[in-house]
Amino acid sequence: MHAGGAARLRTVTLAVLTLSLTAAATGCGNDSGGQSGEVKVGIALPTTKQTRWVSDGDNMKALFKKQGYKADVQYAEDSVDEQIKQVEKMIDSGDKLLIIGAVDGFELGDALQKASRAGVKVIAYDRLLLGSSNVDYYASFNNYKVGELQAQYIIDKLGLKKGGNAGPYNIELFAGDANDNNVRGFFAGAMDTLSDFIADGQLQVPSDQKRLSQVTTYKWQAEIANETMTTRLGDFYKSSTVDAVLAPNDGIARGIIDALKKDHYGTAGKPMPIVTGQDAEIDSVNEIIAGDQSMTVYKDTRKLAEVAVKMAQDILSGKRPETNSDNNDSNDNGNKVVPAYLLAPVSVDKSNYKKLLVDSGYIKASDLN
Ligand code: BGC
Repeated sequence: MHAGGAARLRTVTLAVLTLSLTAAATGCGNDSGGQSGEVKVGIALPTTKQTRWVSDGDNMKALFKKQGYKADVQYAEDSVDEQIKQVEKMIDSGDKLLIIGAVDGFELGDALQKASRAGVKVIAYDRLLLGSSNVDYYASFNNYKVGELQAQYIIDKLGLKKGGNAGPYNIELFAGDANDNNVRGFFAGAMDTLSDFIADGQLQVPSDQKRLSQVTTYKWQAEIANETMTTRLGDFYKSSTVDAVLAPNDGIARGIIDALKKDHYGTAGKPMPIVTGQDAEIDSVNEIIAGDQSMTVYKDTRKLAEVAVKMAQDILSGKRPETNSDNNDSNDNGNKVVPAYLLAPVSVDKSNYKKLLVDSGYIKASDLN
């Protein structure tokens, strides 16, 4: 058969299939999972290393099941090749829609094109998929705001005021993986908030590592942040102490805290600096309770899962999903501005973790010290 004809035939067949499967899925709304005729969706997530992704996967799977869909959740353990394989397999096995939290936002272009050819819609989950027109929607948090909250916490705790002359206080800066698009948002939000205080000298960066390209952490690895912090303490803090550390997430914060403790921070004469975080992981909330980590940024992954699953259902039943951020620079993937729904992150510390994390059921009281 002529190639165009084959493609057309495939499109028509798929359209009919999609329609009938969508009807099956939307019509039943039960907990039956595994029945023939039910619509399958693929959920490709980057890693199980940060516990949040495990919750994201579990939450979405449960929500899809409730609505009568079958969800296949795969984790790539930070390997781009593995994720490409997983996504391609999902398309080949007939998944009707993909939800992807990319290991590397730029590397899935061919797989996304394959999805588009097969009529499979794609939702970028938490991390924007870059450089491709084959991304339909984006569900995430306001990543710029995450960085702003971290930086604002440091400013408030050090008592810095615009035009003031506090300090000078010593700060060290860290960022996540260079290939994770969110990292640019996190760092920009933080640095836009901190830069006036660095410029007027109330904050100083003894290591002089201030540009994003100088402070990224390969694959968000806590061990690497631990080594970097140890090196910076040895090289730049022989006769001074660090007052604040911009740590982009909880895993990296814990790596940094271990380095600080080895250098006797957290003892009577050498208080812990302010250390930020992100994700409200149980281990870090325990560090907050112990007074070692100062804050974390809580992103309610239950809500993000709800947004993504609702988006998927709408797409599969031919409706336009609700979005709240369609003209935002941060949703521009270099090829198109991807219509997005962005949730608000929240700053959490010792003063409000009970109300925000425990009372809301995000973390069980029994998991905390
Ligand atoms: C997510 C963070 C997470 C980090 C490492 C980012 O893209 O937004 O919540 O801590 O990846 O997995």
